[in-house]
Amino acid sequence: MQDLKIPAHIAFIMDGNGRWAKRRLMPRKYGHKMGVEALKRVIAACEKLGIKEVSFYALSTENWSRPKDEIDALLAMIKKFADEEMKEYVDKNYRIRFMGELHRLPQETQNALESIARAAENNTGIVVNIGINYGGRDEIARAAQKAAESGLPVTEEAINANLDTAGMSDPDVIVRCAGEKRLSNFMLWQCAYSEFVLIDDFWPDFNEQTVLRIISEYSGRERRFGGLK
Ligand code: FPP
Repeated sequence: MQDLKIPAHIAFIMDGNGRWAKRRLMPRKYGHKMGVEALKRVIAACEKLGIKEVSFYALSTENWSRPKDEIDALLAMIKKFADEEMKEYVDKNYRIRFMGELHRLPQETQNALESIARAAENNTGIVVNIGINYGGRDEIARAAQKAAESGLPVTEEAINANLDTAGMSDPDVIVRCAGEKRLSNFMLWQCAYSEFVLIDDFWPDFNEQTVLRIISEYSGRERRFGGLK
């Protein structure tokens, strides 16, 4: 059997919640609800398998154009996730971080997320990084602006140090699901050398077996980071 190479960091673009629900003649919101269940399964599986960091795209800067009731449902799920699971994660020594501009969220959600991130700041377990109101271009522009304001040269290191992910490792693998093959403005800077793994399943069907498939595909890749064989 192939030796498994465990990636240190996997980034997931969660997709297909709506189509998953539609196939079951259910509203899109139900797909997102089941998407949250998949998120919990995947975090637990990654932790169990020894992955050190995981990143997820929960809400993009472009998602606000969706119907209001869908956005409200997503925001309510994020708040519930913060009040329930994230608190448990903090107790389990997980480090929780956010990417994106939280200021567009309802004030109480912002407060809840900021207090979780603070409480988990010194935790040493798996890092769970969630993109909320996140856009890769927006993140790079903000980081470049901050680097320029420091008065020092705007180098790659300076941008890195000002990204929402400052101090984190770059993803080894980026996973897109539901038959899509795009980056959709997710972690544009950080994914420069990430291995793409495409999974046809809709996000609500993800589980530990899916994570094992991802690891198995990654294990067969040869990474050269632009160098020679
Ligand atoms: C994509 O499916 C998924 C999203 C836009 C949101 C992902 C959010 C969650 C899983 C739940 C909330 C997150 C947290 C952190 C609690 P889609 O709606 O684009 O599906 P489709 O492509 O089939 O229409």
